[in-house]
Amino acid sequence: MTENMSPINFPTLETERLILRQMTLEDADFVFQYFSASAVSQYLMDEAPLTEYAQAQEIIEFYLEPEGKTHNRWIMIRKSDGQPIGTCGFHKWDKRYFRAEIGYDLSPSFWGQGYMLESLRAVISHGFEQMKLNRIEALVYVENHRSIQLLQRLGFKQEGVLRDYFYLDGKFYDHSLFALLRSEWKS
Ligand SMILES: CC(C)(COP(=O)(O)OP(=O)(O)OC[C@H]1O[C@@H](n2cnc3c(N)ncnc32)[C@H](O)[C@@H]1OP(=O)(O)O)[C@@H](O)C(=O)NCCC(=O)NCCS
Repeated sequence: MTENMSPINFPTLETERLILRQMTLEDADFVFQYFSASAVSQYLMDEAPLTEYAQAQEIIEFYLEPEGKTHNRWIMIRKSDGQPIGTCGFHKWDKRYFRAEIGYDLSPSFWGQGYMLESLRAVISHGFEQMKLNRIEALVYVENHRSIQLLQRLGFKQEGVLRDYFYLDGKFYDHSLFALLRSEWKS
């Protein structure tokens, strides 16, 4: 993307309490500290917690300049104090079938305040309206009750259980497949 081209697929989004902007390499401290904390990684059975700073930089590089890519990650910044509190975004965007997966995580000290619900409402509206998605999917470890409750609050429906879907540290983990269709979304 050139400097003067505004992002279409993954622009900065704003909600009542938050700004959602794309990650930059300046976010490496936050990303490292955050994804090496066991409470955030506890239910992310597709990736082990980070142990080296370079891994945080690799994650950010994967997400840099997302226009034209099939994935992105917004950093959630609290407006009141500029504090980064979590991340969320799309991946596996399949334009042919109008679908993508959603992913999200919040620093544990900000759980229980509705920040992710607020963010995902904006992200989902953006997905259906601007990205023209018809179906948004989420894969959740079956014992990740907070995440399941969040998806249900947003109107996602459980479609099945994918047995032994992810493997980490010598163990397989069942994951539930949830999805939300554009026709079911009330923004
Ligand atoms: C999944 C995760 C983002 C959910 O976080 P969360 O804080 O439970 O979700 P929300 O930010 O939407 O907050 C909802 C809670 O805030 C409360 N709340 C407080 N103020 C609120 C407000 N203004 N608006 C809405 N809810 C509010 C709600 O009642 C609810 O509380 P409850 O869970 O005690 O009923 C978080 O647990 C997490 O990051 N987990 C680790 C990573 C992870 O599992 N990612 C998903 C992989 S599939």
